[in-house]
Amino acid sequence: DMGGHDTYMHKEMSEQAEAVDRVLRGRIDERFSTVRLDGLNLDARDARTVRRIKILGCGTSYHAGQIGAQLIEEIARIPADAEPASEFRYRNPVVDPETLYIAVSQSGETYDVLAAVQELKRKGAKVLGFVNVVGSAIARETDGGIYVHAGPEVCVVSTKCFTNTTVAFALLALHLGRIRDLSVADGKRLLEGLRRLPGQIAEILEREDEVQELAKAYAGARSMMFIGRVRGYPVAREASLKLKEVSYVHAEAYPASELKHGPLALIEPALPTVAIVPDDDLLEKNRAAIEEIKAREGRVLAVAHQKQEKADDTYVVPKNEDELDPILMGIPLQLFAYHTALAMGRDIDKPRNLAKSVTVE
Ligand code: F6R
Repeated sequence: DMGGHDTYMHKEMSEQAEAVDRVLRGRIDERFSTVRLDGLNLDARDARTVRRIKILGCGTSYHAGQIGAQLIEEIARIPADAEPASEFRYRNPVVDPETLYIAVSQSGETYDVLAAVQELKRKGAKVLGFVNVVGSAIARETDGGIYVHAGPEVCVVSTKCFTNTTVAFALLALHLGRIRDLSVADGKRLLEGLRRLPGQIAEILEREDEVQELAKAYAGARSMMFIGRVRGYPVAREASLKLKEVSYVHAEAYPASELKHGPLALIEPALPTVAIVPDDDLLEKNRAAIEEIKAREGRVLAVAHQKQEKADDTYVVPKNEDELDPILMGIPLQLFAYHTALAMGRDIDKPRNLAKSVTVE
Protein backbone atom coordinates (compact mmCIF):
# COMPACT_ATOMS: atom_id res chain seq x y z
CA ASP A 1 0.00 0.00 0.00
CA MET A 2 1.57 3.25 -1.14
CA GLY A 3 -0.82 5.45 0.85
CA GLY A 4 -1.45 7.91 -1.96
CA HIS A 5 2.19 8.09 -3.14
CA ASP A 6 3.21 7.07 -6.66
CA THR A 7 6.27 5.16 -5.51
CA TYR A 8 7.54 3.50 -2.35
CA MET A 9 10.60 5.69 -2.52
CA HIS A 10 8.43 8.78 -2.24
CA LYS A 11 6.31 7.26 0.51
CA GLU A 12 9.38 6.26 2.51
CA MET A 13 11.12 9.62 2.13
CA SER A 14 7.91 11.28 3.29
CA GLU A 15 7.81 9.16 6.46
CA GLN A 16 11.13 10.40 7.80
CA ALA A 17 9.88 12.86 10.43
CA GLU A 18 7.83 10.13 12.14
CA ALA A 19 10.59 7.57 11.63
CA VAL A 20 13.13 9.75 13.41
CA ASP A 21 10.62 10.43 16.15
CA ARG A 22 10.39 6.64 16.62
CA VAL A 23 14.13 6.07 16.98
CA LEU A 24 14.26 8.78 19.67
CA ARG A 25 11.16 7.69 21.55
CA GLY A 26 11.69 6.34 25.06
CA ARG A 27 15.46 6.72 24.80
CA ILE A 28 15.97 10.27 26.12
CA ASP A 29 17.23 10.53 29.68
CA GLU A 30 16.71 14.13 30.80
CA ARG A 31 18.06 13.60 34.26
CA PHE A 32 21.57 12.74 33.11
CA SER A 33 21.46 14.62 29.77
CA THR A 34 22.04 11.40 27.88
CA VAL A 35 20.18 8.57 26.19
CA ARG A 36 19.32 5.08 27.39
CA LEU A 37 20.10 2.25 25.00
CA ASP A 38 18.92 -0.88 26.74
CA GLY A 39 19.53 -3.29 23.89
CA LEU A 40 23.21 -2.45 23.67
CA ASN A 41 24.33 -5.02 26.26
CA LEU A 42 27.30 -2.83 27.05
CA ASP A 43 27.54 -1.65 30.63
CA ALA A 44 29.28 1.57 31.63
CA ARG A 45 32.42 -0.29 32.70
CA ASP A 46 32.68 -2.05 29.31
CA ALA A 47 31.94 1.19 27.52
CA ARG A 48 34.87 2.86 29.25
CA THR A 49 37.32 0.24 28.06
CA VAL A 50 36.45 0.55 24.36
CA ARG A 51 39.54 1.96 22.61
CA ARG A 52 38.32 2.00 19.06
CA ILE A 53 35.11 1.46 17.06
CA LYS A 54 34.95 -0.22 13.69
CA ILE A 55 31.74 0.04 11.67
CA LEU A 56 30.92 -2.41 8.87
CA GLY A 57 28.18 -2.28 6.25
CA CYS A 58 27.49 -2.18 2.51
CA GLY A 59 26.22 0.54 0.20
CA THR A 60 23.99 3.05 1.92
CA SER A 61 24.46 1.34 5.29
CA TYR A 62 28.23 1.80 4.90
CA HIS A 63 27.69 5.51 4.23
CA ALA A 64 25.47 5.77 7.33
CA GLY A 65 28.38 4.13 9.15
CA GLN A 66 30.76 6.79 7.85
CA ILE A 67 28.54 9.49 9.31
CA GLY A 68 28.35 7.38 12.47
CA ALA A 69 32.14 7.18 12.77
CA GLN A 70 32.37 10.96 12.50
CA LEU A 71 29.68 11.40 15.19
CA ILE A 72 31.43 8.95 17.54
CA GLU A 73 34.81 10.63 17.11
CA GLU A 74 33.43 14.11 17.59
CA ILE A 75 31.01 13.47 20.44
CA ALA A 76 32.52 10.52 22.32
CA ARG A 77 36.16 11.13 21.28
CA ILE A 78 36.68 7.46 20.51
CA PRO A 79 38.65 6.74 17.32
CA ALA A 80 36.17 5.27 14.82
CA ASP A 81 36.01 4.40 11.18
CA ALA A 82 33.73 2.62 8.72
CA GLU A 83 34.67 0.08 6.08
CA PRO A 84 32.68 -1.92 3.51
CA ALA A 85 31.97 -5.28 5.16
CA SER A 86 33.07 -7.14 2.05
CA GLU A 87 36.51 -5.51 2.01
CA PHE A 88 36.93 -6.16 5.71
CA ARG A 89 36.19 -9.86 5.52
CA TYR A 90 38.50 -10.54 2.59
CA ARG A 91 41.60 -8.89 3.98
CA ASN A 92 42.17 -11.14 6.99
CA PRO A 93 41.61 -8.24 9.39
CA VAL A 94 43.44 -7.87 12.68
CA VAL A 95 40.73 -8.40 15.28
CA ASP A 96 41.53 -6.40 18.35
CA PRO A 97 39.95 -7.13 21.77
CA GLU A 98 39.67 -3.43 22.67
CA THR A 99 37.77 -2.61 19.49
CA LEU A 100 33.99 -2.57 19.49
CA TYR A 101 32.56 -3.69 16.13
CA ILE A 102 29.23 -2.47 14.75
CA ALA A 103 27.46 -4.14 11.83
CA VAL A 104 24.97 -1.91 10.00
CA SER A 105 22.18 -3.34 7.84
CA GLN A 106 18.66 -2.35 6.92
CA SER A 107 17.56 -5.87 6.00
CA GLY A 108 19.77 -7.64 8.52
CA GLU A 109 20.36 -10.26 5.83
CA THR A 110 23.17 -8.87 3.63
CA TYR A 111 25.54 -11.78 3.20
CA ASP A 112 28.82 -9.86 3.29
CA VAL A 113 27.81 -8.19 6.54
CA LEU A 114 26.60 -11.44 8.10
CA ALA A 115 29.82 -13.22 7.11
CA ALA A 116 31.90 -10.41 8.63
CA VAL A 117 29.89 -10.69 11.87
CA GLN A 118 30.39 -14.47 11.99
CA GLU A 119 34.12 -14.16 11.40
CA LEU A 120 34.39 -11.53 14.16
CA LYS A 121 32.41 -13.64 16.61
CA ARG A 122 34.55 -16.65 15.85
CA LYS A 123 37.59 -14.57 16.78
CA GLY A 124 36.01 -13.49 20.06
CA ALA A 125 35.13 -9.90 19.19
CA LYS A 126 32.21 -7.96 20.62
CA VAL A 127 29.82 -7.07 17.77
CA LEU A 128 26.77 -4.83 17.93
CA GLY A 129 24.08 -4.61 15.25
CA PHE A 130 22.40 -1.46 13.92
CA VAL A 131 19.56 -3.18 12.11
CA ASN A 132 16.09 -2.24 10.88
CA VAL A 133 14.39 -5.61 10.42
CA VAL A 134 13.60 -7.09 13.84
CA GLY A 135 14.71 -10.69 14.31
CA SER A 136 16.80 -10.76 11.09
CA ALA A 137 19.96 -12.86 10.79
CA ILE A 138 22.35 -10.04 11.72
CA ALA A 139 20.15 -8.98 14.64
CA ARG A 140 20.28 -12.55 15.93
CA GLU A 141 24.03 -13.05 15.49
CA THR A 142 25.15 -9.84 17.20
CA ASP A 143 25.71 -9.37 20.95
CA GLY A 144 23.32 -6.44 21.20
CA GLY A 145 22.66 -3.22 19.39
CA ILE A 146 20.06 -0.69 18.35
CA TYR A 147 16.97 -1.33 16.30
CA VAL A 148 16.74 1.74 14.09
CA HIS A 149 12.92 1.57 13.88
CA ALA A 150 12.61 3.12 10.41
CA GLY A 151 9.59 0.89 9.72
CA PRO A 152 9.29 -1.35 6.65
CA GLU A 153 11.39 -0.20 3.70
CA VAL A 154 10.09 -1.64 0.44
CA CYS A 155 11.84 0.48 -2.20
CA VAL A 156 15.13 -1.07 -3.34
CA VAL A 157 16.76 2.28 -2.72
CA SER A 158 17.26 2.99 0.97
CA THR A 159 16.20 6.42 2.27
CA LYS A 160 14.42 6.54 5.62
CA CYS A 161 16.54 3.74 7.04
CA PHE A 162 19.69 5.68 6.17
CA THR A 163 18.42 8.72 8.06
CA ASN A 164 17.32 6.69 11.07
CA THR A 165 20.64 4.85 11.19
CA THR A 166 22.53 8.15 11.35
CA VAL A 167 20.27 9.24 14.22
CA ALA A 168 20.94 5.91 15.97
CA PHE A 169 24.67 6.64 15.70
CA ALA A 170 24.12 10.08 17.21
CA LEU A 171 22.39 8.33 20.14
CA LEU A 172 25.28 5.92 20.59
CA ALA A 173 27.81 8.76 20.39
CA LEU A 174 25.92 10.75 23.01
CA HIS A 175 25.55 7.70 25.26
CA LEU A 176 29.26 6.84 25.05
CA GLY A 177 30.25 10.49 25.30
CA ARG A 178 28.30 10.97 28.55
CA ILE A 179 29.88 7.85 30.05
CA ARG A 180 33.26 9.36 29.17
CA ASP A 181 34.15 13.05 28.83
CA LEU A 182 31.18 14.81 27.27
CA SER A 183 29.88 17.55 29.61
CA VAL A 184 26.31 17.85 30.87
CA ALA A 185 26.02 21.11 28.92
CA ASP A 186 27.05 19.44 25.66
CA GLY A 187 24.78 16.49 26.43
CA LYS A 188 21.86 18.91 26.85
CA ARG A 189 22.77 20.81 23.71
CA LEU A 190 22.84 17.61 21.64
CA LEU A 191 19.59 16.31 23.16
CA GLU A 192 17.90 19.57 22.20
CA GLY A 193 19.35 19.22 18.71
CA LEU A 194 18.03 15.66 18.42
CA ARG A 195 14.58 16.81 19.52
CA ARG A 196 14.53 19.46 16.78
CA LEU A 197 15.22 16.92 14.03
CA PRO A 198 11.67 15.68 13.30
CA GLY A 199 10.32 19.23 12.89
CA GLN A 200 13.22 20.23 10.67
CA ILE A 201 12.77 17.10 8.55
CA ALA A 202 9.08 17.95 8.16
CA GLU A 203 10.10 21.41 6.98
CA ILE A 204 12.46 19.95 4.32
CA LEU A 205 9.69 17.62 3.13
CA GLU A 206 7.21 20.48 2.90
CA ARG A 207 9.65 22.32 0.65
CA GLU A 208 9.86 19.44 -1.83
CA ASP A 209 8.83 21.75 -4.72
CA GLU A 210 12.08 23.67 -4.38
CA VAL A 211 14.10 20.49 -4.82
CA GLN A 212 11.93 19.41 -7.72
CA GLU A 213 12.69 22.69 -9.53
CA LEU A 214 16.41 22.26 -8.92
CA ALA A 215 16.33 18.63 -10.07
CA LYS A 216 14.59 19.65 -13.30
CA ALA A 217 17.18 22.35 -13.87
CA TYR A 218 20.06 19.85 -13.53
CA ALA A 219 18.39 16.78 -15.06
CA GLY A 220 20.08 17.20 -18.45
CA ALA A 221 23.55 16.48 -17.07
CA ARG A 222 25.18 13.17 -18.04
CA SER A 223 27.41 13.23 -15.01
CA MET A 224 27.57 15.07 -11.69
CA MET A 225 30.20 15.74 -9.05
CA PHE A 226 29.40 15.76 -5.31
CA ILE A 227 31.84 17.36 -2.91
CA GLY A 228 32.03 17.82 0.85
CA ARG A 229 34.55 17.90 3.66
CA VAL A 230 34.73 15.96 6.93
CA ARG A 231 31.07 16.01 8.08
CA GLY A 232 29.92 16.75 4.55
CA TYR A 233 31.93 14.09 2.73
CA PRO A 234 29.82 11.03 3.60
CA VAL A 235 26.73 13.10 2.76
CA ALA A 236 28.25 13.71 -0.69
CA ARG A 237 29.00 10.00 -1.11
CA GLU A 238 25.48 8.93 -0.23
CA ALA A 239 23.94 11.60 -2.48
CA SER A 240 26.12 10.40 -5.34
CA LEU A 241 25.07 6.77 -4.79
CA LYS A 242 21.38 7.71 -4.60
CA LEU A 243 21.57 9.63 -7.88
CA LYS A 244 23.38 6.77 -9.67
CA GLU A 245 20.99 4.10 -8.45
CA VAL A 246 17.72 5.75 -9.21
CA SER A 247 18.44 8.01 -12.21
CA TYR A 248 21.44 6.18 -13.81
CA VAL A 249 23.22 9.51 -14.07
CA HIS A 250 26.92 8.95 -13.50
CA ALA A 251 28.12 10.66 -10.34
CA GLU A 252 31.36 10.95 -8.41
CA ALA A 253 31.88 11.99 -4.82
CA TYR A 254 35.11 13.60 -3.67
CA PRO A 255 36.36 15.38 -0.59
CA ALA A 256 36.44 19.04 -1.66
CA SER A 257 40.11 19.17 -0.69
CA GLU A 258 40.96 16.43 -3.24
CA LEU A 259 39.62 18.34 -6.26
CA LYS A 260 42.96 19.94 -7.00
CA HIS A 261 44.67 16.55 -6.91
CA GLY A 262 42.94 15.38 -10.07
CA PRO A 263 39.18 15.67 -10.54
CA LEU A 264 39.37 19.42 -11.21
CA ALA A 265 40.43 18.33 -14.71
CA LEU A 266 36.85 17.13 -15.28
CA ILE A 267 35.20 20.45 -14.44
CA GLU A 268 33.48 22.20 -17.37
CA PRO A 269 29.99 23.63 -17.98
CA ALA A 270 28.53 20.18 -18.74
CA LEU A 271 29.61 18.66 -15.40
CA PRO A 272 27.65 20.28 -12.55
CA THR A 273 28.77 19.99 -8.94
CA VAL A 274 26.68 19.67 -5.80
CA ALA A 275 28.64 21.17 -2.91
CA ILE A 276 27.78 20.35 0.72
CA VAL A 277 28.45 23.59 2.60
CA PRO A 278 27.51 23.45 6.28
CA ASP A 279 27.83 26.61 8.33
CA ASP A 280 30.65 25.31 10.51
CA ASP A 281 34.38 25.93 10.93
CA LEU A 282 35.04 24.75 7.37
CA LEU A 283 32.66 27.22 5.71
CA GLU A 284 35.41 29.38 4.20
CA LYS A 285 37.24 26.33 2.85
CA ASN A 286 34.05 25.12 1.21
CA ARG A 287 33.42 28.53 -0.29
CA ALA A 288 36.91 28.49 -1.77
CA ALA A 289 36.10 25.14 -3.44
CA ILE A 290 33.00 26.68 -5.03
CA GLU A 291 35.19 29.49 -6.41
CA GLU A 292 37.68 26.99 -7.83
CA ILE A 293 34.85 25.30 -9.71
CA LYS A 294 33.32 28.56 -10.92
CA ALA A 295 36.74 29.62 -12.22
CA ARG A 296 36.57 26.52 -14.51
CA GLU A 297 33.03 27.42 -15.59
CA GLY A 298 31.47 24.56 -13.67
CA ARG A 299 27.90 24.93 -12.50
CA VAL A 300 27.41 24.69 -8.72
CA LEU A 301 24.41 23.80 -6.59
CA ALA A 302 25.20 24.46 -2.94
CA VAL A 303 23.39 22.62 -0.17
CA ALA A 304 24.05 25.03 2.65
CA HIS A 305 22.70 26.84 5.70
CA GLN A 306 22.66 30.21 3.98
CA LYS A 307 22.62 31.41 0.40
CA GLN A 308 26.02 30.99 -1.28
CA GLU A 309 26.63 34.02 -3.48
CA LYS A 310 29.28 32.31 -5.60
CA ALA A 311 27.12 29.26 -6.39
CA ASP A 312 24.58 29.20 -9.23
CA ASP A 313 21.90 27.84 -6.92
CA THR A 314 21.56 27.23 -3.20
CA TYR A 315 19.22 24.94 -1.34
CA VAL A 316 19.03 26.19 2.25
CA VAL A 317 18.86 23.41 4.87
CA PRO A 318 17.58 24.12 8.41
CA LYS A 319 20.50 24.48 10.83
CA ASN A 320 20.91 22.13 13.79
CA GLU A 321 23.94 21.58 16.03
CA ASP A 322 27.14 21.31 13.93
CA GLU A 323 27.63 17.62 14.77
CA LEU A 324 24.06 16.71 13.78
CA ASP A 325 23.87 18.72 10.54
CA PRO A 326 24.85 15.80 8.27
CA ILE A 327 21.67 13.97 9.33
CA LEU A 328 19.54 16.72 7.75
CA MET A 329 21.71 17.53 4.74
CA GLY A 330 21.19 14.11 3.18
CA ILE A 331 17.42 14.46 2.94
CA PRO A 332 17.10 17.15 0.22
CA LEU A 333 19.60 15.11 -1.80
CA GLN A 334 17.40 12.01 -1.60
CA LEU A 335 14.61 14.18 -3.00
CA PHE A 336 17.04 15.49 -5.62
CA ALA A 337 17.84 11.95 -6.83
CA TYR A 338 14.15 11.09 -6.84
CA HIS A 339 13.08 14.12 -8.87
CA THR A 340 15.98 13.71 -11.29
CA ALA A 341 14.86 10.12 -11.90
CA LEU A 342 11.25 11.24 -12.25
CA ALA A 343 12.20 13.92 -14.79
CA MET A 344 14.09 11.23 -16.73
CA GLY A 345 11.21 8.72 -16.63
CA ARG A 346 13.05 6.04 -14.61
CA ASP A 347 11.45 3.06 -12.84
CA ILE A 348 12.10 4.48 -9.39
CA ASP A 349 11.13 1.60 -7.13
CA LYS A 350 12.94 -1.01 -9.23
CA PRO A 351 16.22 0.31 -10.56
CA ARG A 352 17.74 -2.02 -13.16
CA ASN A 353 20.22 -4.66 -11.96
CA LEU A 354 19.54 -4.14 -8.24
CA ALA A 355 17.84 -6.22 -5.53
CA LYS A 356 16.59 -5.15 -2.11
CA SER A 357 18.67 -7.54 -0.12
CA VAL A 358 21.88 -9.07 -1.36
CA THR A 359 21.99 -12.46 0.30
CA VAL A 360 24.71 -13.86 -1.97
CA GLU A 361 28.44 -13.20 -2.13
C1 F6R B 1 21.24 1.73 -1.58
C2 F6R B 1 20.94 0.37 -1.18
C3 F6R B 1 22.06 -0.62 -1.01
C4 F6R B 1 21.98 -1.21 0.39
C5 F6R B 1 23.01 -2.32 0.60
C6 F6R B 1 23.00 -2.84 2.03
O1 F6R B 1 20.12 2.52 -1.72
O2 F6R B 1 19.79 0.05 -0.97
O3 F6R B 1 23.31 -0.01 -1.24
O4 F6R B 1 22.17 -0.15 1.30
O5 F6R B 1 22.77 -3.36 -0.28
O6 F6R B 1 21.76 -3.35 2.40
P1 F6R B 1 21.38 -3.59 3.91
O7 F6R B 1 21.37 -2.27 4.58
O8 F6R B 1 20.06 -4.27 3.89
O9 F6R B 1 22.46 -4.47 4.49
